[in-house]
Amino acid sequence: MEDKGLIDLSQVIYQNCGLSYIDRLSVLKEKTLKRLLELELKYFEYIEYLKTSPMEWDILIELLTINETYFYREENQLNECCSIVLPLMKKKVSDRPLRIWSAACSSGEEPYTLAMLIQETGQFLPGTVEIIATDINKKVLQKAEKGWYHRGSFAFRRIPPNLLSKYFTEQDNGYQIKPAIKNMVKFQHFNLLNDEKVSIIGQVDVIFCRNVLIYFDQVTTKRVIRNLQQHLTPEGYLFLGHAESITDMAMGFQKVDSDKTFYYRKETDQDETVQCISG
Ligand SMILES: C[S@@+](CC[C@H](N)C(=O)[O-])C[C@H]1O[C@@H](n2cnc3c(N)ncnc32)[C@H](O)[C@@H]1O
Repeated sequence: MEDKGLIDLSQVIYQNCGLSYIDRLSVLKEKTLKRLLELELKYFEYIEYLKTSPMEWDILIELLTINETYFYREENQLNECCSIVLPLMKKKVSDRPLRIWSAACSSGEEPYTLAMLIQETGQFLPGTVEIIATDINKKVLQKAEKGWYHRGSFAFRRIPPNLLSKYFTEQDNGYQIKPAIKNMVKFQHFNLLNDEKVSIIGQVDVIFCRNVLIYFDQVTTKRVIRNLQQHLTPEGYLFLGHAESITDMAMGFQKVDSDKTFYYRKETDQDETVQCISG
């Protein structure tokens, strides 16, 4: 029989950040027990502690989130974004900056990859693209802000060598992202479940929200997708991880199927009868 306090903690976590440990209490215990021993608190006391010490949430989030990421992840999607979506966006945003949101950016590899690829296309002048990159975990955001990655780290497992040499400088046994790329990305702390604060992001043309919905149940996924949908400009695009289809949820998106990947386009009134379009 599990500790009632542990069950209650799983519910508090679920409500706060959507991470679902309700069916994985032993994993939650494994991740948190050391912290509780440090604080000399029982689970029910820890829940009270979280109420009075908001900074403890940051520590808990660090213990709970999985931040695995790397540059140039899911190459087929990135190619599709560059060859199909960006040219469409170029036409769409002729008189204003293109806005892209990396909505669970972890330590920055995803938004920096997008910045490098946008530079590579040569379609957008400096200063005409804003990439907003957000995550719930403050520690990974600090790493992202630095833009320095250890040589031989997981981050570089898929990066094409020409992008590494062109957009990084070697520094202290690692690589520092160059200012031209760094300046294209603005990092911000943000919880995808915070419906009230979601307005601070504003309207965006393309959203990358990859490899985070897998940690949410269907109720939370729907809530997050609804929020993302509201942030997209008409005919904006949404990229999810390859294991994160929302096709069966009818959430106001049209699925775009291409040869090797899929993504979503915000539905318009004209799309009503169309189930699926090809890229
Ligand atoms: C596996 S990483 C994915 C990183 C990147 N999008 C990629 O595909 O490589 C998942 C990220 O989602 C973040 N995350 C989890 N729950 C979140 C929430 N409620 N709001 C915002 N970010 C969240 C985690 O902190 C983690 O950095």
